[in-house]
Amino acid sequence: MKISYDRSACQGHNRCYMLAPELVDSDDEGYAILLVDGEVPAELEEMERLAADNCPEFAIEVTD
Ligand code: F3S
Repeated sequence: MKISYDRSACQGHNRCYMLAPELVDSDDEGYAILLVDGEVPAELEEMERLAADNCPEFAIEVTD
């Protein structure tokens, strides 16, 4: 699975990096930064879905 992030949609709600700290961090302004280069290791896929499902701006997406 892959993860994608739309910086222009992010409003800094913080849920992603609280729920998926191994995949997402925050920058100095509170916007998300991906810690992986698109490809998500199988053991972190559940965390990936959690981050995507809980972003109210749909800024994080899970793709095949
Ligand atoms: Fe941004 Fe959504 Fe995370 S708005 S900080 S990507 S929860």
